[in-house]
Amino acid sequence: MKSFGVHLFFLVFLAPVASVSVQAFTGTYGINYGRFANNIPSPDEVVTLLRGAKIRNVRIYDADQSVLKAFSGTGLEIVVGLPNGNLSDVSANADHAMSWVKDNVLAYLPDTRICGIAIGNEVLGGSGEFSGFLLGAVKNVYNAVNKLKLSDVVQITTAHSQAVFANSFPPSSCVFQDNVVQYMKPLLEFFSQIGSPFCLNAYPFLAYMSDPEQIDINYALFLPTEGINDAKTKLHYDNLLDAQIDAAYAALEDAGFEKMEVIVTETGWASRGDENESAATPNNARTFNYNLRKRLAKMKGTPLRPKNVVKAYVFAIFNENLKPGPTSERNFGLFKADGSISYDIGFHGLKSSSAYSSVLSLKLEEEEHDEDREDKKRESRER
Ligand SMILES: *[C@@H]1O[C@H](CO)[C@@H](O)[C@H](O)[C@H]1NC(C)=O
Ligand SMILES: *[C@@H]1O[C@H](CO)[C@@H](O)[C@H](O)[C@H]1NC(C)=O
Repeated sequence: MKSFGVHLFFLVFLAPVASVSVQAFTGTYGINYGRFANNIPSPDEVVTLLRGAKIRNVRIYDADQSVLKAFSGTGLEIVVGLPNGNLSDVSANADHAMSWVKDNVLAYLPDTRICGIAIGNEVLGGSGEFSGFLLGAVKNVYNAVNKLKLSDVVQITTAHSQAVFANSFPPSSCVFQDNVVQYMKPLLEFFSQIGSPFCLNAYPFLAYMSDPEQIDINYALFLPTEGINDAKTKLHYDNLLDAQIDAAYAALEDAGFEKMEVIVTETGWASRGDENESAATPNNARTFNYNLRKRLAKMKGTPLRPKNVVKAYVFAIFNENLKPGPTSERNFGLFKADGSISYDIGFHGLKSSSAYSSVLSLKLEEEEHDEDREDKKRESRER
C-alpha cells in the first residue's frame, strides 16, 4: 500500500499549482452540521436556525444533496466533505475525482456557496487504514477543481485530530508523531503551495477528561485560572484551546511550515455523558460554548501567533442519536434533536425561545461591544 502511494505521488501529480490562497471563512465563528441522526430538523429548518443565530460558516461531512439544495441562495458558506471511504477510489482515479467535483460541487455553484472541500476526516494518526490515499485524493480533487477554474473559490483541506501529535505539553514541545510524519510532510508541502491552512480538531473537553488530576477545569472552560507558563517561549496561557492551537503551530514550525495558518475545524463540549464522563454536564457545556463565542468575538490570535486571528467551527449543531461510542458522543449539540436549545448561550431554538434567552443574547452582544471598546482603547494606547 505504501509503495503504491509513493508511485502516485511521483507519477501522477506533477501538475503545476497556483499559489493563490482562498478565503473560506467569514468572521471567526462557524459550526459543524453533523447528521448522524434520524430525528433532527430538516435542512430548511437548519437554515432558519443558522440565520437566527447569525452563523455564516458551516461544515458538513459529505455532500448531501438535500442540504446543498436547502442552502442555495442563503448566503451560508459551506465546506463539503469527501468521506474517508471514498479516498482510495478518488486517489487512484483522476476522472472519479473530476466527476465527484462536478456532481457535488460544480452542480450547486454559485447559488450554494461551497467554499471548501474537506478531503477525508481525521485520516492520519488513527488506524492508518486510509493514510496512504490521503495525499493522492487531495491532489486529484485539487487538480479537478483547478481544471474547472474553481481553485480561487473552493479551498482544499483535511482536518486532523490531536492523535497526529506527540508531546503537546508544554505547547512549544509539540511535534508530529513519528508514524505520521511520512504522510504529513508531503501533505503540508502541497497545502503550503496551494495556500491551504492546517485544520485542527481540538477538544479541551477530551484533554481535560484524559487528565482531570493535572488540568484545572477552569482552564479548559475559559474561566479565571492561574493558567500555565511555557518555559521555553516564556508565553503564558490562560485557556487550554489557545494552548492546543499553539501546540499545532509548534509542530508545524518543527516540520518546517512556520507560515501555515491553523484553523480549528472542530471544538466543543458534551452536555451529557456516561458515569465516567462527569465533566459532560449542561452547565460545563454552556460555559465552554458561551466563553468560546466570547473568545472568538475578540478577533485575536494566540500567544505564539498573535496576528493569526483564531477561527473555529464548533461541534455541533445537533445532538446526534446514531453516533456510536460513549454517551458524550451523542450529546455535543448546541441544539437538541427537536430544535430547542440544549442550554442557553444566546441562540434561539426553533421552538420555545424564552425571554431569558434574548436577555442573555443582548448581554453577550453588550459584553462584546464593551470588550471591543476596551481593546480599541488598549490598542490606541499601545500605538
Ligand atoms: C463514494 O462512496 C459512496 C458510498 O460507498 C459511493 O456510492 C460513491 O459512488 C463513491 N463515490 C466515489 C467518487 O467514489
Ligand atoms: C469510560 O468507561 C468506558 C467503559 O469502561 C471506557 O471505554 C472509556 O474509555 C471510559 N472513559 C473515560 C473518559 O475514562
